[in-house]
Amino acid sequence: MSIKLSNISKSYGNQEVLHNISFEVCPGEIAAFLGPNGAGKSTCMRIITGWLTDYAGTATICGHSISEDPIAAKRCIGYLPENNPLYPEMYVREYLRYVGQLYQVPNLNGKVDEMIERVKLREVCGKTIGTLSKGFRQRVGLAQALIHDPQVLILDEPSSGLDPNQLTEIHSLIKELGKEKTILFSSHSLQEVSDLCEQAVIIHKGVIVANTQISELTKEESLESIFKKLTQ
Ligand SMILES: Nc1ncnc2c1ncn2[C@@H]1O[C@H](COP(=O)(O)OP(=O)(O)OP(=O)(O)O)[C@@H](O)[C@H]1O
Ligand SMILES: [Mg+2]
Repeated sequence: MSIKLSNISKSYGNQEVLHNISFEVCPGEIAAFLGPNGAGKSTCMRIITGWLTDYAGTATICGHSISEDPIAAKRCIGYLPENNPLYPEMYVREYLRYVGQLYQVPNLNGKVDEMIERVKLREVCGKTIGTLSKGFRQRVGLAQALIHDPQVLILDEPSSGLDPNQLTEIHSLIKELGKEKTILFSSHSLQEVSDLCEQAVIIHKGVIVANTQISELTKEESLESIFKKLTQ
């Protein structure tokens, strides 16, 4: 399995925000993580990517435990965190070089050029990140997630706040990347999930309430109907 979570639980103080979360994503699949605000999607992604270390249960990425072998696991992961934290004073090219150095990417100049082409950053690569529009900042976030050519991508709301043209572009990029990588992304758009994914994992109040193949959904048991039941 590319991503395997077993019985993950996480509390903040006496609030349990994740309860016994278990699911798997097969190699080469695109999976969506869905759930209302505050359901626990970002917290779970922070655990998978090694940002949060204080939790119960196990998470493995490409067979590497994120808690026991974090460096090997992190080499396999590209992560676009929620709200896409970047250094606004850095130039785009400078930032991508910096991230590439952290991952010890060989032939870094060539790789940075490849990323700039792949996520279409050519026109802004000489600008500082703080001067970019949201869509271009999102692309920089994707480029930094991809620079070490990870097998698994964890993308926390990659399409949030994008205009329709940029949405189309990011969707085609996710589809293209999904041909060679395993992707888990969170979203609030059921349409986007139906269009892009093979698998949907739905979480509500820290508990998995559905884990389904999109192809197995029916009119009666659709993503919409599962969501409606959550709010009843
Ligand atoms: N650092 C923290 N300290 C205390 N509580 C936290 C912290 N981070 C998250 N939480 C709580 O954990 C719960 C899950 O939050 P999380 O951000 O994972 O939800 P989410 O599913 O990503 O929501 P959204 O769709 O709004 O992004 C929420 O109740 C949130 O308030
Ligand atoms: Mg979130």
